[in-house]
Amino acid sequence: MKYNIAIIKGDGIGPEIVDEALKVLNSIGEKFGHEFCFTEVLAGGAAIDQTGENLPLETIEVCKASDAVLLGAVGGPKWDSLPGQKRPEKALLAIRKELNLYANIRPAVMFKELKESCPIKDEIIGEGIDIVIVRELTGGIYFGERNTHGDYAYDKMEYKKAEIERIARRAFEIAAKRNRKVTSVDKSNVLDTSRLWRKTVEEVAEEYRDIRLNHMYVDNAAMQLVINPKQFDVILTGNMFGDIISDEASMITGSIGMLPSASLGDNNFGMYEPIHGSAPDIAGQNKANPIATILSAAMMLRYTLGLEKEADVVEKAVQKTLEEGYRTADIAKGHEKVLGTREIGKRIVEFID
Ligand code: IPM
Ligand code: MG
Repeated sequence: MKYNIAIIKGDGIGPEIVDEALKVLNSIGEKFGHEFCFTEVLAGGAAIDQTGENLPLETIEVCKASDAVLLGAVGGPKWDSLPGQKRPEKALLAIRKELNLYANIRPAVMFKELKESCPIKDEIIGEGIDIVIVRELTGGIYFGERNTHGDYAYDKMEYKKAEIERIARRAFEIAAKRNRKVTSVDKSNVLDTSRLWRKTVEEVAEEYRDIRLNHMYVDNAAMQLVINPKQFDVILTGNMFGDIISDEASMITGSIGMLPSASLGDNNFGMYEPIHGSAPDIAGQNKANPIATILSAAMMLRYTLGLEKEADVVEKAVQKTLEEGYRTADIAKGHEKVLGTREIGKRIVEFID
């Protein structure tokens, strides 16, 4: 089969980590007889530098015409002084919105090999965690009206019932295939949007009687993740809370450099990206951990392209690489074989072959 994939390398470490994921996809293509046709398009800082716009029209068109999108990361200090609308991050938000990718799936799974990198005590973490964060991605405070008038600024947080329903359904569907537990995270002791959120989630839960639902305020959830992370199976939450909670959950797995994500809409189309940012401080130094991006490519194989076996092979190759003691600096504890971005990618490809 031939698959068309739009590639947005982005800024900072983006190009380096995406290159490794492309090598992985190419080796999967060779091994299983698929043709991955990559079309590179621009978004974020790189697009600003080359075209003057953070999101050229062509990028959206190519993404829409593709089966899936693979993205590295966008942003960096170079563009930090630009007004909000012109910033690299705005391009990312616009792609998500434009492609209606409202469901952001962020699995936080700890590889047992990375136990030593986990900052949580042994008796709490045990054999690790396996949580899926389901983050609403095209609504909430990220997309409300905002403005600055001199010394006054505001960002409006809005949610419509229909937006909450569809993301809640997604979370329950995912939980149905796992441990049948959904924890909905909100701030309903303060926010109206959260009260609507909680009520709507309760209603959707009626359709999924065999799934346990509990609610948690976001401040408590942040704490519970540290003191008792094993209580979570699926965490369902809004856009900003999901952003924060997923960074926290990622560190429990050892490094933010490990977590992949899928952003999905109503059909199989999806955009896949690591949850981390563009890490400008280590860009171009062959230091970045490409595993989150490689695992994002695996999610793409599984969720959009339906290539389950191929996705397994990628994940097993990552596992094997870690088992053999190979690490990038962010997950090295001193006694492993520390490799650069390209060398880790190469090891993973070797295990695939
Ligand atoms: C993420 C990132 C983005 C977000 C930024 C870069 C806009 O932090 O994907 O988690 O906040 O959604
Ligand atoms: Mg984030």
